[in-house]
Amino acid sequence: MVIRTLALAAALALAAHAADAQLSGSVGSAREGAMEGVLVSAHRAGGNMTVTVVSDAEGHFAFPANRVGPGQYTLSIRAAGYTLATPPGVTVAGATSAALTLAPTDDLASQLTNAEWLASMPGSEADKHFLRNCVNCHTLRQPLFSSHDTAAFVAVQERMATYAPASGLHMPQRPLADRISNQGPAAAAARMAVFQRQAGFLAGVNLGNRQAWAFPLQPFPRPSGRATRVVITEYDLPEPTRMPHDVVLTGDGTVWYNSFTEQVLGRLDPATGQVREYQVPELKPEAPKGSLALRPDQDGQLWLGLSYQGGVARFDPRRETFRMYPLPDNLNRDHTQTTEVEPRHLHVDGKVWIEDSGTYSLYRMDVATGAIEVFQPFPIPSPNIYDITTDAQNNVYFTVFGRGDIGRVEARTGQIRTWPTPTPNSNPRRGTLDERGRFWFGEFAGNRIGMFDTRTETFREFTPPTPFSFPYDAVADRNGEVWTGNMMTDRITRLNPESGQMVEYPLPRSTNVRRVFVDNSTTPVTFWVGSNHGASVVRLEPRD
Ligand code: HEC
Repeated sequence: MVIRTLALAAALALAAHAADAQLSGSVGSAREGAMEGVLVSAHRAGGNMTVTVVSDAEGHFAFPANRVGPGQYTLSIRAAGYTLATPPGVTVAGATSAALTLAPTDDLASQLTNAEWLASMPGSEADKHFLRNCVNCHTLRQPLFSSHDTAAFVAVQERMATYAPASGLHMPQRPLADRISNQGPAAAAARMAVFQRQAGFLAGVNLGNRQAWAFPLQPFPRPSGRATRVVITEYDLPEPTRMPHDVVLTGDGTVWYNSFTEQVLGRLDPATGQVREYQVPELKPEAPKGSLALRPDQDGQLWLGLSYQGGVARFDPRRETFRMYPLPDNLNRDHTQTTEVEPRHLHVDGKVWIEDSGTYSLYRMDVATGAIEVFQPFPIPSPNIYDITTDAQNNVYFTVFGRGDIGRVEARTGQIRTWPTPTPNSNPRRGTLDERGRFWFGEFAGNRIGMFDTRTETFREFTPPTPFSFPYDAVADRNGEVWTGNMMTDRITRLNPESGQMVEYPLPRSTNVRRVFVDNSTTPVTFWVGSNHGASVVRLEPRD
């Protein structure tokens, strides 16, 4: 009985949405009739905002009136296998209705997500796993549409390996020096053997000299049910080179983003889409540019991990000034890569934690004096370490990305401990400790959302329903639900850890997801992420 009442209440709420809407309509095709799970996007002429809703089981869609008001819009759709056959232009004036007809596409290959390519191509999961590393810089379109043979792919792989992770397709950057464990002839020989094997696989699955791929292209089913009850807003950033690696909100509702390959910190007004950008001072002009981590401290000051620039920066939003903290000379080498900075518990002891992916070290910096303590969890050659997150005592937890462990440096004693994840070699990437002492993180190779309970020292793991998701990061919201994204599926996963149930919201464009962020001040909560290769900031509002 109770369930029925709830269902009725939900139906009434949605009906209210439709009645409110200035722009609503239906979507269907000759092949399927009314279509569920089609993403319908409206881009207002001259603006930098695109709003997307998803059609329901009857093929209906409706934009909230406060998001799509009167004006000129261009409509677009996302539904694998289809293109929009009706004219895309629409003028919204009062209640406006649009009946959209979809026609079969003749270019399904250009519509597939990375995960759909991986699921379609022949070979074992183990054969395909290395391809998750290519999407750090571009989609699988580059290798799969190519005509390279094995030898050509070896050369391509050698060239890719010279690029810094902070590279985009149009922004290649080269580090001044390799990480220390990648140096020397033995490391080079081992790398070449791997390239040979992978190049052979790539030459078997790319287009080559054929008219079409040698295997059927298989898109995943469209979203349905709860996954269609969402509103997504994309904000285009001023330049196509922006790679908004991390997106965070401060208490006043301002949205902040950094650029992975540029000395840029930006602020975005979510109501108007207006953007203001600040030039981050350079510390090492000859080294790759850009920053990876962006985190606010308790006072709303924004901290940036400056990666190859060798240090961190603090930005004061009121004065609009940067304070730079370069690493001291004895720690600052050509392979230095200070990707992460974690200031959330700076107020506890006046210290921020910094992670250096180039030397596999953690630094603890006294902000007042600039003094730095060094913690090295493993002897060199060390597995990569990656993200850091702190608890209420400013103890730091870290992910052992090059292997499969969660580690901790105890603030008081400096003692270091590590715990292996249940899935071996899971490559835990980034994550955040929640209020209940649970560290949620993405298992990039393990293809799972991981949780380490720091109180009981036990793990839990959850596998997203879409194959080849390879989660990057995870964050818990105020209700205890957990959100993750990835570089493969163009879907955002919402997990209820109590029931184990997951909803996967589809994204309107190819979206390379890194840091995930939840704004807990709205009801329901709002999810934010940067489209790292799409030069946009994405806001996802579930309707329940
Ligand atoms: C660190 C960043 C980075 C990674 C990781 C990366 N690429 Fe690239 N890739 C680039 C850049 C930058 C370009 C464009 C410039 C160029 O072609 O060198 C590119 C271009 C390409 C091209 C098109 C150019 C050509 O020569 O055909 C192919 C194919 C390619 N990459 C394959 C791969 C494969 C396969 C992987 C994974 C095994 C991979 N890339 C990983 C940065 C990267």
